[in-house]
Amino acid sequence: MAMRQSKLRAVSARPWLLLLCLALAATAGVMQARAQPNSIGFISIDCGFPGTTSYVDDATTLPYAPDAAFTDAGENHNVSSEHVTPELPRIYRDVRSFVDGARNCYTLPSTLAVGLNKYLFRAAFMYGNYDGLNRPPVFDLYIGVNLWKTVNLSSSDPAAPVIAEAIVVVPDDFVQVCLVNTGTGTPFISGLELRPLKNSIYPQVNATQGLVLQSRRNFGPTDMTDIIR
Ligand SMILES: *[C@@H]1O[C@H](CO)[C@@H](O)[C@H](O)[C@H]1NC(C)=O
Ligand SMILES: *[C@@H]1O[C@H](CO)[C@@H](O)[C@H](O)[C@H]1NC(C)=O
Ligand SMILES: *[C@@H]1O[C@H](CO)[C@@H](O)[C@H](O)[C@H]1NC(C)=O
Repeated sequence: MAMRQSKLRAVSARPWLLLLCLALAATAGVMQARAQPNSIGFISIDCGFPGTTSYVDDATTLPYAPDAAFTDAGENHNVSSEHVTPELPRIYRDVRSFVDGARNCYTLPSTLAVGLNKYLFRAAFMYGNYDGLNRPPVFDLYIGVNLWKTVNLSSSDPAAPVIAEAIVVVPDDFVQVCLVNTGTGTPFISGLELRPLKNSIYPQVNATQGLVLQSRRNFGPTDMTDIIR
Protein backbone atom coordinates (compact mmCIF):
# COMPACT_ATOMS: atom_id res chain seq x y z
CA MET A 1 0.00 0.00 0.00
CA ALA A 2 1.43 3.37 -0.93
CA MET A 3 1.74 6.10 1.64
CA ARG A 4 2.45 9.73 0.91
CA GLN A 5 5.49 11.22 2.47
CA SER A 6 5.59 14.96 2.95
CA LYS A 7 8.12 17.53 4.04
CA LEU A 8 7.55 20.52 6.25
CA ARG A 9 6.10 23.04 3.86
CA ALA A 10 8.35 25.88 4.98
CA VAL A 11 9.05 27.10 1.44
CA SER A 12 5.63 28.59 0.84
CA ALA A 13 4.92 29.34 4.49
CA ARG A 14 4.09 32.71 5.95
CA PRO A 15 6.62 34.01 8.49
CA TRP A 16 4.57 32.81 11.49
CA LEU A 17 4.42 29.30 10.10
CA LEU A 18 8.14 29.37 9.46
CA LEU A 19 8.64 30.48 13.04
CA LEU A 20 6.49 27.58 14.21
CA CYS A 21 8.61 25.18 12.17
CA LEU A 22 11.79 26.62 13.64
CA ALA A 23 10.34 26.31 17.13
CA LEU A 24 9.46 22.68 16.40
CA ALA A 25 12.96 22.03 15.10
CA ALA A 26 14.46 23.65 18.19
CA THR A 27 12.35 21.43 20.47
CA ALA A 28 13.47 18.39 18.48
CA GLY A 29 17.07 19.48 19.02
CA VAL A 30 16.56 19.38 22.76
CA MET A 31 14.92 15.95 22.53
CA GLN A 32 17.81 14.70 20.45
CA ALA A 33 20.34 15.80 23.02
CA ARG A 34 18.51 13.84 25.68
CA ALA A 35 17.79 10.71 23.68
CA GLN A 36 20.35 9.78 21.04
CA PRO A 37 19.91 6.73 18.84
CA ASN A 38 22.51 4.06 19.70
CA SER A 39 25.68 3.60 17.62
CA ILE A 40 23.89 1.70 14.83
CA GLY A 41 21.03 4.20 14.83
CA PHE A 42 18.46 1.95 16.51
CA ILE A 43 15.81 3.65 18.61
CA SER A 44 13.90 1.31 20.94
CA ILE A 45 11.36 2.76 23.33
CA ASP A 46 9.27 1.07 26.00
CA CYS A 47 6.23 3.36 26.09
CA GLY A 48 4.85 3.76 29.61
CA PHE A 49 8.04 2.51 31.26
CA PRO A 50 8.72 4.86 34.19
CA GLY A 51 12.00 6.43 35.19
CA THR A 52 15.00 7.60 33.19
CA THR A 53 17.09 4.44 32.86
CA SER A 54 17.12 2.03 29.92
CA TYR A 55 17.07 -1.74 30.37
CA VAL A 56 18.31 -4.56 28.16
CA ASP A 57 15.53 -6.72 26.73
CA ASP A 58 16.07 -10.44 27.42
CA ALA A 59 14.89 -11.69 24.01
CA THR A 60 16.51 -9.14 21.69
CA THR A 61 19.43 -8.08 23.97
CA LEU A 62 18.73 -4.52 22.80
CA PRO A 63 18.51 -1.59 25.22
CA TYR A 64 14.99 -0.13 25.58
CA ALA A 65 14.58 3.45 26.77
CA PRO A 66 11.72 4.89 28.83
CA ASP A 67 9.55 7.23 26.76
CA ALA A 68 9.41 10.39 28.88
CA ALA A 69 12.16 12.09 26.83
CA PHE A 70 10.15 11.65 23.61
CA THR A 71 6.71 12.93 24.60
CA ASP A 72 5.30 15.40 27.11
CA ALA A 73 1.74 14.05 27.18
CA GLY A 74 -0.11 11.01 28.47
CA GLU A 75 0.24 8.85 31.54
CA ASN A 76 1.82 5.50 32.42
CA HIS A 77 -0.19 2.41 33.28
CA ASN A 78 0.64 -1.22 33.95
CA VAL A 79 -1.44 -3.77 32.09
CA SER A 80 -3.77 -5.86 34.23
CA SER A 81 -1.87 -8.58 36.14
CA GLU A 82 -4.14 -11.29 34.70
CA HIS A 83 -2.47 -10.65 31.32
CA VAL A 84 1.12 -10.73 32.59
CA THR A 85 2.90 -14.06 32.04
CA PRO A 86 6.61 -14.74 32.64
CA GLU A 87 7.13 -14.86 28.85
CA LEU A 88 5.47 -11.49 28.18
CA PRO A 89 8.13 -9.11 26.80
CA ARG A 90 8.67 -6.10 29.03
CA ILE A 91 7.46 -3.53 26.48
CA TYR A 92 3.95 -5.03 26.80
CA ARG A 93 3.78 -4.83 30.59
CA ASP A 94 3.07 -1.10 30.61
CA VAL A 95 1.55 1.44 28.23
CA ARG A 96 1.31 5.18 27.83
CA SER A 97 -2.27 6.33 27.30
CA PHE A 98 -3.50 9.70 26.09
CA VAL A 99 -6.79 10.65 27.73
CA ASP A 100 -6.44 14.35 26.90
CA GLY A 101 -6.16 15.94 23.48
CA ALA A 102 -7.17 14.77 20.03
CA ARG A 103 -3.61 14.27 18.80
CA ASN A 104 -0.58 13.29 20.89
CA CYS A 105 2.88 12.73 19.47
CA TYR A 106 6.29 11.23 20.07
CA THR A 107 9.16 13.28 18.63
CA LEU A 108 12.06 11.07 17.55
CA PRO A 109 15.52 12.01 16.32
CA SER A 110 16.60 10.67 12.93
CA THR A 111 20.10 9.69 11.83
CA LEU A 112 20.06 12.02 8.84
CA ALA A 113 23.41 13.30 10.06
CA VAL A 114 25.12 10.02 9.18
CA GLY A 115 23.47 9.88 5.77
CA LEU A 116 20.73 7.35 6.51
CA ASN A 117 17.16 8.55 6.17
CA LYS A 118 15.17 5.43 5.28
CA TYR A 119 13.59 3.77 8.29
CA LEU A 120 11.60 0.80 9.39
CA PHE A 121 9.07 2.07 11.94
CA ARG A 122 7.46 -0.46 14.27
CA ALA A 123 4.78 0.40 16.82
CA ALA A 124 3.36 -2.18 19.24
CA PHE A 125 0.07 -2.19 21.12
CA MET A 126 -1.21 -4.59 23.75
CA TYR A 127 -4.33 -3.43 25.56
CA GLY A 128 -4.15 -5.88 28.48
CA ASN A 129 -7.10 -4.11 30.12
CA TYR A 130 -4.68 -1.50 31.53
CA ASP A 131 -7.60 0.86 32.32
CA GLY A 132 -9.84 -1.81 33.87
CA LEU A 133 -12.66 -0.92 31.44
CA ASN A 134 -12.44 -4.06 29.27
CA ARG A 135 -13.01 -1.86 26.23
CA PRO A 136 -10.11 -2.05 23.74
CA PRO A 137 -10.04 1.15 21.64
CA VAL A 138 -9.82 2.01 17.95
CA PHE A 139 -7.65 5.00 16.97
CA ASP A 140 -5.46 6.34 14.16
CA LEU A 141 -1.70 6.30 13.97
CA TYR A 142 0.30 8.82 11.90
CA ILE A 143 3.90 9.34 10.82
CA GLY A 144 4.10 13.12 10.51
CA VAL A 145 0.98 14.17 8.60
CA ASN A 146 0.55 10.78 6.90
CA LEU A 147 -1.97 8.22 8.13
CA TRP A 148 -0.03 5.04 8.94
CA LYS A 149 -2.74 2.72 10.24
CA THR A 150 -6.07 2.56 12.02
CA VAL A 151 -5.22 0.56 15.11
CA ASN A 152 -8.32 -1.51 15.77
CA LEU A 153 -8.01 -3.55 18.94
CA SER A 154 -11.74 -3.99 19.43
CA SER A 155 -11.95 -7.52 18.07
CA SER A 156 -8.64 -8.89 19.33
CA ASP A 157 -7.77 -10.76 22.48
CA PRO A 158 -6.77 -8.10 25.06
CA ALA A 159 -3.47 -9.99 25.55
CA ALA A 160 -2.68 -10.21 21.81
CA PRO A 161 -0.20 -7.60 20.62
CA VAL A 162 -1.03 -5.65 17.47
CA ILE A 163 2.00 -4.46 15.53
CA ALA A 164 2.16 -1.73 12.89
CA GLU A 165 5.13 -1.42 10.56
CA ALA A 166 6.06 1.03 7.82
CA ILE A 167 9.13 1.91 5.79
CA VAL A 168 9.47 5.59 4.96
CA VAL A 169 12.08 8.18 4.11
CA VAL A 170 12.42 10.83 6.82
CA PRO A 171 13.42 14.14 5.21
CA ASP A 172 14.23 15.99 8.45
CA ASP A 173 16.43 15.40 11.45
CA PHE A 174 13.40 14.47 13.54
CA VAL A 175 10.10 12.71 12.93
CA GLN A 176 6.82 12.57 14.81
CA VAL A 177 4.68 9.51 15.44
CA CYS A 178 1.20 10.60 16.50
CA LEU A 179 -1.85 8.89 18.01
CA VAL A 180 -5.17 10.45 17.07
CA ASN A 181 -8.36 10.00 19.07
CA THR A 182 -11.20 9.20 16.66
CA GLY A 183 -13.92 9.05 19.32
CA THR A 184 -13.70 5.26 19.74
CA GLY A 185 -11.62 4.93 22.89
CA THR A 186 -8.45 6.32 24.45
CA PRO A 187 -5.31 5.89 22.30
CA PHE A 188 -2.37 4.12 23.96
CA ILE A 189 0.93 2.57 22.91
CA SER A 190 3.22 -0.15 24.30
CA GLY A 191 6.41 0.24 22.25
CA LEU A 192 8.01 2.15 19.43
CA GLU A 193 11.08 1.17 17.37
CA LEU A 194 13.01 2.82 14.55
CA ARG A 195 15.62 0.98 12.50
CA PRO A 196 17.59 2.86 9.86
CA LEU A 197 17.85 1.05 6.52
CA LYS A 198 20.37 1.38 3.72
CA ASN A 199 18.96 3.50 0.92
CA SER A 200 19.53 0.66 -1.56
CA ILE A 201 17.01 -1.71 0.05
CA TYR A 202 13.28 -1.33 -0.62
CA PRO A 203 13.94 0.90 -3.67
CA GLN A 204 10.14 1.40 -3.95
CA VAL A 205 10.42 3.65 -0.90
CA ASN A 206 11.54 7.18 -1.74
CA ALA A 207 10.90 10.75 -0.61
CA THR A 208 7.33 10.69 -1.94
CA GLN A 209 6.11 7.20 -1.11
CA GLY A 210 6.40 4.67 1.69
CA LEU A 211 5.33 1.09 2.37
CA VAL A 212 2.97 -0.13 5.07
CA LEU A 213 3.16 -3.71 6.34
CA GLN A 214 0.27 -5.91 5.26
CA SER A 215 1.42 -9.07 7.02
CA ARG A 216 4.60 -10.82 8.04
CA ARG A 217 4.75 -14.55 7.26
CA ASN A 218 7.22 -17.18 8.37
CA PHE A 219 7.61 -19.83 5.65
CA GLY A 220 8.85 -23.19 6.97
CA PRO A 221 8.95 -22.28 10.65
CA THR A 222 10.76 -24.59 13.05
CA ASP A 223 8.96 -23.04 15.99
CA MET A 224 5.44 -21.63 15.74
CA THR A 225 6.21 -18.91 18.25
CA ASP A 226 9.19 -17.58 16.27
CA ILE A 227 9.17 -13.87 15.69
CA ILE A 228 10.97 -12.98 12.48
CA ARG A 229 12.90 -9.74 12.70
C1 LIG B 1 3.79 -1.30 37.68
O1 LIG B 1 4.46 -2.52 37.90
C2 LIG B 1 5.77 -2.36 38.44
C3 LIG B 1 6.45 -3.72 38.45
O2 LIG B 1 5.63 -4.71 38.99
C4 LIG B 1 5.66 -1.73 39.83
O3 LIG B 1 6.95 -1.55 40.38
C5 LIG B 1 4.97 -0.39 39.69
O4 LIG B 1 4.76 0.18 40.97
C6 LIG B 1 3.63 -0.54 38.98
N1 LIG B 1 3.10 0.79 38.70
C7 LIG B 1 1.87 1.15 38.96
C8 LIG B 1 1.49 2.55 38.56
O5 LIG B 1 1.06 0.39 39.48
C1 LIG C 1 -12.84 -2.65 14.23
O1 LIG C 1 -12.86 -4.00 13.82
C2 LIG C 1 -14.11 -4.65 14.04
C3 LIG C 1 -13.94 -6.12 13.69
O2 LIG C 1 -13.26 -6.29 12.50
C4 LIG C 1 -15.18 -3.97 13.16
O3 LIG C 1 -16.42 -4.58 13.37
C5 LIG C 1 -15.25 -2.50 13.56
O4 LIG C 1 -16.16 -1.83 12.70
C6 LIG C 1 -13.89 -1.83 13.48
N1 LIG C 1 -13.99 -0.49 14.04
C7 LIG C 1 -13.60 0.61 13.37
C8 LIG C 1 -13.88 1.91 14.04
O5 LIG C 1 -13.03 0.57 12.29
C1 LIG D 1 9.16 7.62 -6.03
O1 LIG D 1 8.79 6.48 -6.79
C2 LIG D 1 7.61 6.66 -7.57
C3 LIG D 1 7.26 5.32 -8.20
O2 LIG D 1 8.39 4.70 -8.74
C4 LIG D 1 7.85 7.76 -8.58
O3 LIG D 1 6.66 7.97 -9.33
C5 LIG D 1 8.24 9.05 -7.85
O4 LIG D 1 8.55 10.05 -8.78
C6 LIG D 1 9.45 8.79 -6.97
N1 LIG D 1 9.73 9.99 -6.20
C7 LIG D 1 10.96 10.50 -6.11
C8 LIG D 1 11.12 11.71 -5.26
O5 LIG D 1 11.92 10.00 -6.69
